[in-house]
Amino acid sequence: MSPIGVAVVGCGYWGPNLLRNFAAEPRAQVRWICDLDEGKLESLRLRYPSVRTTTRYEDVLSDQGVHAIVVATPVRTHHRLARLALQSGKHVLVEKPLADQVTLAEDLVEQAERHDRILMVDHTFVYTGAVRHLKKLCEEGLFGTLWYVDSVRINLGLFQRDVNVVWDLAPHDLSIVTHLLGKDPVTVQATGASHTGNGTEDVAYLHLDFDNELIAHFHVNWLSPVKVRQMFLGGSERMVIFNDIEPSEKLRIYDKGIEVKADNREGIYKLQVGYRSGDMWAPALDGTEALTVEVRHFLDCIERGEKPMTDGKAGLRVVRILEAAQMSIKAGGKRVAL
Ligand SMILES: NC(=O)c1ccc[n+]([C@@H]2O[C@H](COP(=O)([O-])OP(=O)(O)OC[C@H]3O[C@@H](n4cnc5c(N)ncnc54)[C@H](O)[C@@H]3O)[C@@H](O)[C@H]2O)c1
Repeated sequence: MSPIGVAVVGCGYWGPNLLRNFAAEPRAQVRWICDLDEGKLESLRLRYPSVRTTTRYEDVLSDQGVHAIVVATPVRTHHRLARLALQSGKHVLVEKPLADQVTLAEDLVEQAERHDRILMVDHTFVYTGAVRHLKKLCEEGLFGTLWYVDSVRINLGLFQRDVNVVWDLAPHDLSIVTHLLGKDPVTVQATGASHTGNGTEDVAYLHLDFDNELIAHFHVNWLSPVKVRQMFLGGSERMVIFNDIEPSEKLRIYDKGIEVKADNREGIYKLQVGYRSGDMWAPALDGTEALTVEVRHFLDCIERGEKPMTDGKAGLRVVRILEAAQMSIKAGGKRVAL
């Protein structure tokens, strides 16, 4: 089978990681590196001498040998570039978040269907060994009924020019949670604040309610002195801490919980809460780089015509929550229904 021709568009901070993974994949042939910044192209030409470079997106679109385009440009450009790619008959892997508005994300999903092309979103964390393992445990019912998700994703910078901290960092948490749960929240509340004078929120708190007892809370922040990447999931049977900074024990699973008994003796209702404290264990995880797993999955989907795990619809679900969170912030933390 001849290799799948790939073009990587946008080679700033994140694009080179995608480029490196596609270049290492024998089933892919990177044909173009495209960026508006000639300086970025110059340094990449040294590393990838056999790949053509261009500042003109049209060169990529018109090349019949390009089967798939990887869009790693700023968020506000995702819709335009991905739409042109789909209309030119190319499969698309687009960076998170899929688009900066729900209507634009919906349009991309529709374009992918109309042109019968694969549309996949780089929800990187879904492809990590930790989240793949968590998904398996959720499906096996290890946690019992999930009661809460509590996540902290904070560091100093990187300030983005075109989006706030919610659109930059929360896609990671939202993609993890919607993937693990397989369902969406019913309401979203968010508050946030800007400290640079330009109105772009750099600290924010998101609160999601689901149609059961599950509540979820996310703290995203570009003004933290230290980097924290922690997610707590509490279930009726077990609890887990996912610490992405931890090199070896990213998942710690706790056999801890409560046992609730109602005591109605002597006609007086008393609630008795007992505590269960069992083992903690840290499962061995597949350490393959998430982008390697993801790039292989994208190529598999193209070859087999299968739906990606993080397809356009998964991207749209995340954008819906982001947009609702943005509306809530602007309305002073008002609850927004999805
Ligand atoms: N999945 C992840 O973990 C992860 C991490 C970081 C960034 N991202 C995403 O990657 C995307 C890019 O972020 P970044 O931090 O690399 O930004 P960046 O500003 O460092 O790089 C963007 C690059 O795109 C180029 N560019 C802009 N418009 C273009 C156009 N029309 N055609 C060709 N090139 C164009 C710019 O010149 C720049 O080199 C964003 O969507 C961001 O959310 C994802």
